[in-house]
Amino acid sequence: MSSINYSEKIPNNVNLSEDRALQRALEHWQPNYLQWWRDMGPDGSQNFDVYLRTAISTTPDGWAQFGHVKMPDYRWGIFLNAPEADRQVNFGEHKGEAAWQDVPGEHRANLRRIIVTQGDTEPASVEQQRHLGLTCPSQYDLRNLFQVNVEEGRHLWAMVYLLHKYFGRDGREEAEALLQRNSGSEDNPRILQAFNEETPDWLAFYMFTYFTDRDGKFQLCALAESGFDPLSRTCRFMLTEEAHHMFVGESGVSRTIQRTCEVMKQTGTDDPAVLRQHGVIDLPTIQRYLNFHFSVTIDLFGADQSSNAATFYASGLKGRYEETKRNDDHQLKGEHYKILEVQGDKLVEKEVPMLNSLNEVLRDDYIKDSIAGIGRWNKVIEKAGFSFRLQAPHKAFNRHIGTFAGIRVAPDGRVISEAEWQANVRNWLATEEDRAYVASLMGRVVEPGKMANWIAPPAVGINRQPVDFDYVRFN
Ligand SMILES: [Fe+2]
Ligand SMILES: [Fe+2]
Repeated sequence: MSSINYSEKIPNNVNLSEDRALQRALEHWQPNYLQWWRDMGPDGSQNFDVYLRTAISTTPDGWAQFGHVKMPDYRWGIFLNAPEADRQVNFGEHKGEAAWQDVPGEHRANLRRIIVTQGDTEPASVEQQRHLGLTCPSQYDLRNLFQVNVEEGRHLWAMVYLLHKYFGRDGREEAEALLQRNSGSEDNPRILQAFNEETPDWLAFYMFTYFTDRDGKFQLCALAESGFDPLSRTCRFMLTEEAHHMFVGESGVSRTIQRTCEVMKQTGTDDPAVLRQHGVIDLPTIQRYLNFHFSVTIDLFGADQSSNAATFYASGLKGRYEETKRNDDHQLKGEHYKILEVQGDKLVEKEVPMLNSLNEVLRDDYIKDSIAGIGRWNKVIEKAGFSFRLQAPHKAFNRHIGTFAGIRVAPDGRVISEAEWQANVRNWLATEEDRAYVASLMGRVVEPGKMANWIAPPAVGINRQPVDFDYVRFN
């Protein structure tokens, strides 16, 4: 089960050849996928040989093989974690039943919606990142971008497999539509707003992979708990790939900070104007980028009170983060959770039924995890001897979904007037000038081992290769 069959047109570990109709349907989708990759995938990179990892098994140790491949030849396929013997539905009203190997009829529409929404984010991020290769800060970073891109492409395959196998004609139509929507498109945009935003520069890319791929992690963790076993097993394997994406983000921001601190030491100043003359990104600008990506990403968890979230949980489709590690009845009827509400010019806590606030529960778990990494960034600043500290903004800041939509809240959590917001927003969210400045730093650095001036080199290379390894051969 864990080893992957690469001799077939579509690599897989699900015995695809035993289901001819499914195999044919997916082989029919495959050229459309490749066409999408050529049209919407990494710009101008089709001919590069890239040092990529490819899954060779789904066991936790040693699943990856590294080698130079042209990205359109990457072996995208269908890899599920091995089934867990006697797995049960672990939460909700079906708790204790055997996990479902097929889609229960009454949950079909909801499950399809969950899978389509998750699936839609995967190609969206490839589209958002498609021009970044033209301005990479190093060959090492270029390779990491491409690794993230091919794996997001594979995540699309993961969801398309479920749609084709379990949802009949509806599923096949949804799989086609996943290739037709496009990030930022006027008439046919991606489903979730954060996936229609641009990722215009590499600082935005690192913030995106740190914050938004982490949303991916939390959604996948919640779906990995699903009573629908094929979804659970798919998500478990996707999570092993997701870890690298967040590493790219965390280490990318960290290296940016490190370089800025070096120049702060050399020049003896933290004056952004001086630092910008020296071609690095001042810490307040990094904070404004952080504020933007954090707030846009936490919107992805949805409304703080949601009857859909309650339904998904009660029906065993989507669990909580680390559901099975929690010590409660896993049904949550009669349980409460504290959410925030605006009363006049104050945010006050309010107890609401937990089942209805499961989006907020997941968001709060996400926030905890995000803040841990911000702490590690601050260690870099502290070690360099500076007192500046990056901070996650309050969760009510700059929100567009849920209770806080349309309410102005400062990063410190004060409810403020429109006038105060307008007077200060330039200090809180990256401005046009910030973005233009960061964009001005984005030259293309591709000599092995060389780094753009604004970022420090990584501590180690990929797969124990040296930093100056030829990660990308341009042909
Ligand atoms: Fe993904
Ligand atoms: Fe990802």
